[in-house]
Amino acid sequence: MRPVELSSPLLCLDAPRPADAALVFEYCQDPVMPRYLARLPSPYRFEDATDFVTGYVPDAWAGDLEYTWAVRGAVGPELLGVISLSVPVGSAASVAGPGVGSGSASGSDSQSGTARRTSSIGFWLGGAHRGRGLMVEAQRLVLDWGFSTGLCDAVHWECVVGNLASARAARKAGFRFTGQGPAGIAYRNGTHPPSWKGALHATDDRTPPAGWPAEVVGA
Ligand SMILES: CC(C)(COP(=O)(O)OP(=O)(O)OC[C@H]1O[C@@H](n2cnc3c(N)ncnc32)[C@H](O)[C@@H]1OP(=O)(O)O)[C@@H](O)C(=O)NCCC(=O)NCCS
Repeated sequence: MRPVELSSPLLCLDAPRPADAALVFEYCQDPVMPRYLARLPSPYRFEDATDFVTGYVPDAWAGDLEYTWAVRGAVGPELLGVISLSVPVGSAASVAGPGVGSGSASGSDSQSGTARRTSSIGFWLGGAHRGRGLMVEAQRLVLDWGFSTGLCDAVHWECVVGNLASARAARKAGFRFTGQGPAGIAYRNGTHPPSWKGALHATDDRTPPAGWPAEVVGA
């Protein structure tokens, strides 16, 4: 598939460009990035950023493996962050590759006795762009697209236990907490760290659900 642009009054999501490599490199120097992003190379080199925007992302779009967008403001081309949605196993293509998403697994989910095509979502923002709710809006755009195109009918999210910003952003986007367990895929050191997991189905109303750990819900 060719990259698809998604937009709202707040954000524009489009294909990462070669010129984005400098900011990808800069943002990925933040120590929380390798801590929370399973597949991010660490240390993160400039050529990792270049390979990501000019190789991995366009190849994964073209091969229908994983759809990755640059998150930008509605005005101006500056890269703010990245969001991706994997293609469900058995869908147009096979499995997600080594992007910069949350690193969660994708596949089918037989909850309720009905086979679902389940994508997984991953995201990050540069440090200067956090704390404004941008990733809730970016998730809304990507989830609407994934469901409305029929790519998937459920989406899986996960983060390392304690990543409150990710969990709160997922909860605010409407994800239901499904429990804690080992990460769906191996982190770069081969471990599967304890992770919080969530799910969102196409028919869910996106109201932040009850059932999340108290520390995620906050005061
Ligand atoms: C996850 C991420 C995209 C969320 O974006 P964000 O802009 O911080 O999200 P929000 O502004 O909507 O904040 C979400 C909530 O987390 C809280 N939060 C943010 N950083 C926090 C921190 N370090 N500790 C505790 N809470 C935090 C915010 O106060 C907000 O709480 P609220 O919903 O009660 O207002 C961003 O923090 C990030 O890029 N983190 C590093 C990479 C990462 O962890 N990606 C996800 C991997 S699974």
